[in-house]
Amino acid sequence: MAENEIDEHSGIETTGHSWDGIKELNNPLPRWWVITWYICIVFSIIYMILMPAWPGIHSYTKGLRNHSERANVAAAMADLEAGRNVTLKKLLVVRSVGDIEQDPDLLQLSMAAGASLFGDNCATCHGSGGQGFSGYPNLIDDDWLWGGTFAAIQQTLQHGVRADDPEARIGVMLAYGRDGMLPREQVSDLVEYVTSLSGGEADAQAIARATPVFAQTCASCHGADGKGNQTLGAPNLTDGIWLYGGERQNIHETLQNGRGGVMPAWTTRLSDEQIVALAVYVHSLGGGE
Ligand code: HEC
Ligand code: HEC
Repeated sequence: MAENEIDEHSGIETTGHSWDGIKELNNPLPRWWVITWYICIVFSIIYMILMPAWPGIHSYTKGLRNHSERANVAAAMADLEAGRNVTLKKLLVVRSVGDIEQDPDLLQLSMAAGASLFGDNCATCHGSGGQGFSGYPNLIDDDWLWGGTFAAIQQTLQHGVRADDPEARIGVMLAYGRDGMLPREQVSDLVEYVTSLSGGEADAQAIARATPVFAQTCASCHGADGKGNQTLGAPNLTDGIWLYGGERQNIHETLQNGRGGVMPAWTTRLSDEQIVALAVYVHSLGGGE
C-alpha cells in the first residue's frame, strides 16, 4: 500500500480511502473511548469466569459463582409456600362456620386461599364460578345433594363421592330400564310422574299409573314426596333444579341407564388446611346451610 498522504488543511494523515474526491482522515480514537473499550473487555472476561456464559452441547459454562436464576426462583417459591402453609395452618382450628365468622382475618385468609385452590382443582368440573355443568353440580345455589353444612361439605371434599376412598359417599341410582327392573311402559310413566313433581305439565293417566310404582320403587331414596335424601345423595326431584337435566329425554336417560357421578376424594391431594379453606369458600358460594 502506498504511503498515505498528509491532508494539507489539517496536517493529519489520511487513510487513503477516497470517495468522489472526499478523503478520510486517520484521526486517533478518543482516549476515553479506548479506555472504556478496554474496561469492557476486562469486565466481560471476569464475567465469563464468574457467571454462566457459554452454551455447550449438553449444558453451559456454569461460572465460579454457580449462579442460577432458576434455583433462585425455586427457592423463593419454596419460601413463599412455607410462609403460606404456616398461615393456613391456623385454619386447622376451624370446626364450624361460626369459628370463621368470629375471626375476620381467618375468614379473609380462607376465602382467598379457597378461591385460588378452587380455580386450580375444582373449576374444570364445577365451572370457574362454581356454576356446574350437566352431571357436575352447581355449587352456588343452596340445593345440595349431600348437604350444605360446613361439616357436610368438608366430608364431601375429603372422601369424595363414589371415589376411590374407603369412606367415599355412595349413592346408587340404578339402571331400571336397561337392567330390566321396570318394564318400558313403567319407565315412560315414571318420566311423566317425575316431570309433574316439579310442576311440569304431564299426562294425568300416566301419573296415576306411576304413583304406586314411585312409592314402591323410588320413595325409599327420593322420599315419598320426592324431596330427596341427603344421606343417600338422592336429589330432590321437586325443586326444578336438575343434576342431569329435566327434559323428558334426560329423565328417561336417568331411569333407563342409571347415574353415578364421581367426585374425587381430596385428602390424598390436598392438605387438611387446604380442604378447610375450600369448604369455607364453597360454603360461602352456596348460601350454605
Ligand atoms: C372430576 C370432576 C370433579 C372435580 C375435579 C371436582 N368435583 Fe366436586 N363433584 C363432582 C361430581 C360429579 C359431583 C356430584 C357427585 C354426585 O353425583 O353425587 C361433585 C360433587 C361435589 C360437591 C357436593 C355437592 C352437593 O350438592 O352436595 C361438592 C361440595 C364439590 N363437589 C366440591 C368440589 C370441590 C371444592 C372441588 C375441588 C377441590 C371439586 N368438587 C372437584 C365432580 C368433580
Ligand atoms: C337406592 C336409592 C335410589 C333409588 C331407589 C332411586 N334413586 Fe333416583 N337417584 C338416586 C341417586 C343417588 C341419584 C343421584 C345420582 C348421581 O348423583 O349421579 C338419583 C338420581 C335420580 C334422578 C336425576 C335427578 C337430577 O337432578 O338429574 C332422577 C330423575 C331419579 N333419580 C329418579 C328416580 C326414580 C323415578 C326412581 C324410581 C324408579 C329412583 N330414582 C330410584 C338414588 C335412588
